[in-house]
Amino acid sequence: MQVEQTENLSPFLADLTDILVASVAAGASIGFVPPLARQVAEDYWLSVQEAVKDGRTILLLATENGKAYGSVQLVPCSKGNAHHRAEVHKLMVGPRSRRHGIGRRLMAALEHTAWENGRTLLILDTRRSDVADGLYGRMGYTRFGIVPAFTIDTDGTSHDTCFFYKHLTPAK
Ligand SMILES: CC(C)(COP(=O)(O)OP(=O)(O)OC[C@H]1O[C@@H](n2cnc3c(N)ncnc32)[C@H](O)[C@@H]1OP(=O)(O)O)[C@@H](O)C(=O)NCCC(=O)NCCS
Repeated sequence: MQVEQTENLSPFLADLTDILVASVAAGASIGFVPPLARQVAEDYWLSVQEAVKDGRTILLLATENGKAYGSVQLVPCSKGNAHHRAEVHKLMVGPRSRRHGIGRRLMAALEHTAWENGRTLLILDTRRSDVADGLYGRMGYTRFGIVPAFTIDTDGTSHDTCFFYKHLTPAK
């Protein structure tokens, strides 16, 4: 398994679409509600491809033998006073590939990429009590707030969202 910055996601489009559809079906809170149509998921990844081309996002993929198993995005802030800042978007690992350290490796690679790009402050959010909530805390992210009822399911159930930050420091 390797984690690499990817400029061309075409070879991985079907894998990434599978991962997104399956993750949403399994209850992930990553901006979509189930059931997520395959075409909608594919369109999302095509929009990410455009964002990568434009430099609006940096895409990292966990791959092995030409197949993608997970992804995360680093979204640099373009504001004049925030060239040191970036957001972390849509960390996801396919449900069948979880609990093998891929999520942690994606986040470690993302931090390395952020540092290499001069982005030393990372901001992210996740649904309260999700697996990622614990993972980010253990990776040194500071939880700075919780917004009640930040997301609402199709059945009307609301969920709180936790916001985190981390100042990166040079690797020792
Ligand atoms: C969050 C996610 C990316 C983690 O991916 P993963 O490859 O399973 O993660 P890892 O195997 O690297 O495990 C990371 C940590 O989470 C823990 N963990 C993973 N799954 C867990 C589970 N179901 N229950 C409890 N702990 C779990 C691991 O023990 C590990 O702990 P550590 O940090 O102390 O070593 C994955 O669960 C996922 O895609 N979830 C849906 C999408 C999502 O919610 N993304 C976050 C959006 S902000």
